[in-house]
Amino acid sequence: MVESSNLPDHYNDIDKIYDEIWSRLKIGKKDRNSEFHQCYVASTGNEFPSVRTVVLRHVDKDQLTIGFHTDIRSHKINEIKYKSNVTVLLYDHASKIQLKINGIAEINHKNANTKAIWSNIRDFSKKCYLVKNAPGTESSTPTSGYPEQYEDILPSPEELESGYQNFTHVNINIKAIEWLYLHQNGHRRAKFTISKTNIDKQWIAP
Ligand SMILES: Cc1cc2nc3c(=O)[nH]c(=O)nc-3n(C[C@H](O)[C@H](O)[C@H](O)COP(=O)(O)O)c2cc1C
Repeated sequence: MVESSNLPDHYNDIDKIYDEIWSRLKIGKKDRNSEFHQCYVASTGNEFPSVRTVVLRHVDKDQLTIGFHTDIRSHKINEIKYKSNVTVLLYDHASKIQLKINGIAEINHKNANTKAIWSNIRDFSKKCYLVKNAPGTESSTPTSGYPEQYEDILPSPEELESGYQNFTHVNINIKAIEWLYLHQNGHRRAKFTISKTNIDKQWIAP
């Protein structure tokens, strides 16, 4: 057993947990080595629930939003158009903290938001949006998806600009966050339900 004086500050303090969630998300966005740099976004598929890894690109505690970048032609966009409710899962193995975030996804494509974001994206990342066919398109041969002339090179800045047509920022308006902290003295689980006027903080059984 761990002495109670050695337990983390948030162990029995639900307000500290809420702050901890946002500071960890912020670190996740900035630090590519953080376990919260990736997250797993679930949406409603046709036949099966759908989930995939994405990089956490946007975190705003005041607006209660998180977000990621993707290709407008990807399956996830069709699923979000069909039903905008998504769940985002994150797990930090070292800290033993899991977050489950429910939200409503909003697709940003060729608008003022994407324009501002695109101007700050590194060339290497811009190249991803130059794939010829939609992500998920079947191919009779192994493929990177890039047009032949871009296969092993970084295209010129002018050429990279055409990727903007496919670039999409998905902004998720958070409705609820569930925290789970695993600890040998007893796990802790809490739920934060967000409404227009209030954030309801509730302990729940792990
Ligand atoms: C570590 C990692 C990070 C990824 N980051 C992204 C990302 O930020 N955006 C994205 O669209 N796909 C990302 N992918 C690829 C997706 O997981 C997925 O394969 C792809 O987007 C197609 O998903 P969909 O068919 O469900 O739309 C990432 C994959 C891995 C393994």
